[in-house]
Amino acid sequence: MSESIDRNLALELVRVTEAAALRAGRWMGRGDKIGADQAAVDAMRSVLGTVPMDGVVVIGEGEKDEAPMLYIGERLGSAEHPRVDIAVDPVDGTRLLANGMPNSIAVLAVSERGTMLASPDIMYMDKIAVGAEAAGVIDIEAPVKDNLARVAAAKGRAIGDLTVVILDRPRHEGLITEVREAGARIKMITDGDVAGAVMAANPGTGIDLMVGIGGAPEAVVAACALKCLGGDMQCKLWPRNDAERAAVVEKRIDIDRVLRLDDLVASDNVFFAATGITDGELLRGVHYVGDGATTQSLVMRSRSGTIRTVDAIHQLAKLRQYAAFPFD
Ligand code: FBP
Repeated sequence: MSESIDRNLALELVRVTEAAALRAGRWMGRGDKIGADQAAVDAMRSVLGTVPMDGVVVIGEGEKDEAPMLYIGERLGSAEHPRVDIAVDPVDGTRLLANGMPNSIAVLAVSERGTMLASPDIMYMDKIAVGAEAAGVIDIEAPVKDNLARVAAAKGRAIGDLTVVILDRPRHEGLITEVREAGARIKMITDGDVAGAVMAANPGTGIDLMVGIGGAPEAVVAACALKCLGGDMQCKLWPRNDAERAAVVEKRIDIDRVLRLDDLVASDNVFFAATGITDGELLRGVHYVGDGATTQSLVMRSRSGTIRTVDAIHQLAKLRQYAAFPFD
């Protein structure tokens, strides 16, 4: 990590997620995932282009369902330094947004060049994420009941007091049964496991763990947030079929390797910004009022450990006169 990143980058980055949320928020409930994602991607790309950095997209989102994307390898930024890796998730929870459901967020993370795990050709990872109090006690290879016991002990609570976030998917049937049998409470989410992981690490959300299989790019994005929050995360690649398994073996990637926080993002100088699109427990969504709008964002930097919640009022009429992006 030869290069330092200017601390003010954090506030530059929140402008990017705010722009994505402001544009995408107009698509709430329209039933059009692709249109909503495209709006966020366009806004993000345009404002990222004005951030003083030389960024390369390492984690781009969209290949999974052929959504519009900020593609991997795309160069963004208006300066030659600092040289950074970028992870984008212009809308985490496109279905949530398209259906007007809670917790869709626009997300961006940045770290020094070469520190983010590049997409390993596998779309899913098995994940476990916790906050600072339980950092160091999780083991993705242990049964979930053991992890619940360890987290409960670390937090000085009973397993029955813990709440676990799990994506509501048929593949999690067994996991859900195990968590129920162990006695913990479950918060099932239909989408958005980046927000799920951030909630697990954010005191005050009432969430203690996030477990289960979700998108691989989202794992790296969430790892950036957890670095900032002092939380912990472990992941394992989760090939869906023999073809994916064969592709990984061919590339000599160890499919059984436990990926820890430092494997997902090997940096102690990580920036993370997220802005709510639809109202949720983590962040309030975009509210449009006359010719203005309000947003709420989370902005964090791992090196300083500073966590900011940014409530912003945007004068869309004024922005339209000069901003890099035409706010509607
Ligand atoms: P999108 O916003 O790209 O649709 O992703 C939403 C999401 O729920 C992620 O948060 C999660 O990691 C992934 O999809 C889970 O994938 P799947 O819906 O295929 O189970």
